Amino acid sequence: MIAAIIAAAGSGERFGASIPKALIQLGDRTLIEHAVSSISSIADQIIVTAPAGYEDAITKLVGDDVLVVTGGATRSDSVRIALARVSPDAQYVLVHDAARALASSRLATQVIEALKNGDVAVIPGLPQTDTVKVVDSDGYVTSTPDRSNLRRVQTPQGFSYSVLQQAHASKIDATDDAALVEALGMKVRIIEGEERALKITTPADLATSLQFLGKSSTFTTGVGVDAHRFEEGRELWLAGIFWPDQAGVEGHSDGDVAAHAICDALFAATNLGDLGSNFGVSRPEYAGASGTTLLQETLALITKAGFRISHVSVQVIGNRPKIGARRVEAIAALSSALGGAEVALLATTTDGMGLTGEGKGIAAIASALVYRAI
Ligand code: CTP
Ligand code: MG
Repeated sequence: MIAAIIAAAGSGERFGASIPKALIQLGDRTLIEHAVSSISSIADQIIVTAPAGYEDAITKLVGDDVLVVTGGATRSDSVRIALARVSPDAQYVLVHDAARALASSRLATQVIEALKNGDVAVIPGLPQTDTVKVVDSDGYVTSTPDRSNLRRVQTPQGFSYSVLQQAHASKIDATDDAALVEALGMKVRIIEGEERALKITTPADLATSLQFLGKSSTFTTGVGVDAHRFEEGRELWLAGIFWPDQAGVEGHSDGDVAAHAICDALFAATNLGDLGSNFGVSRPEYAGASGTTLLQETLALITKAGFRISHVSVQVIGNRPKIGARRVEAIAALSSALGGAEVALLATTTDGMGLTGEGKGIAAIASALVYRAI
């Protein structure tokens, strides 16, 4: 029979999340779920090492057929703890990292095939593409190994059960299990690894892994338009800033057409209704709300629905005010209301035609590009 140990007891310090790395979500599942699911078609027994305090959380994710044990201080300690629980009937043991969540079942099968062909230790590896230097503690290079002889090794690594037991009897700490077998003077076979078996160490690695899932972010766009009529005695608020000495416009709120057009573009891109259905007259708490407030509220709604803003642009259409001189200030106000999103602000007149050309009011047209946070 075949047993598999999945090391998942690390804290994921370099990843920098508030939860252990194995519990990070990748697409529709956590890293540990991915790792267990690809190994489960090959192994008859699966043992997962969990960080202390996360045993129940991991059991809930991987199911009762998987034995969850509390890991140790180092990866080698964790593997030793799990090894002690491997069934005496096991012939081969795979040792895998939860951090290599996307290693395929095929890779595990190939490791087992090589073991069946007589090797006692089999590990996947890929060619080294960067030149590697050996350095001393003063920061000077001492040698340059021949790159063509180097391999970047991965997991799952496969061993005959008795050889892995002998290797771990030494209680030495190593970054992989094959190193312990090498220390015994036994032969370790390298087979062709997989790019998708990369070790997820940092958020950038998680983004790379998403591409292997074919889940690079999907973008959607939306367009929004708004227009308000000038009204004597009202202050003019436009593009998130106050314009003194300019006639304002009528409206349920402060009449900031640029902000309103952006809100509608965001609602259009996310299919979450529109300005009226979210903040209209049926929501009296938004009466008189500033454009900035509505942008902030819109951002909160779309964020809650799982979207992030990639880019927003808005064009003000009217004879006045002249936007150019205050463009930077207005962009800063709009961007800050949108949590720092990239904003472009343009302006135009309509050559004397239409309501804004006749000087009756101001209009704006906006577009938004958003993506779903995965
Ligand atoms: N691991 C383990 N027990 C430990 C340390 C690590 O089981 N005491 C596991 C990790 O959960 C991971 C694998 O060994 O799946 C490879 O380790 P690494 O990628 O270094 O993960 P972390 O130790 O969690 O990350 P970091 O070093 O950034 O803290
Ligand atoms: Mg580590």
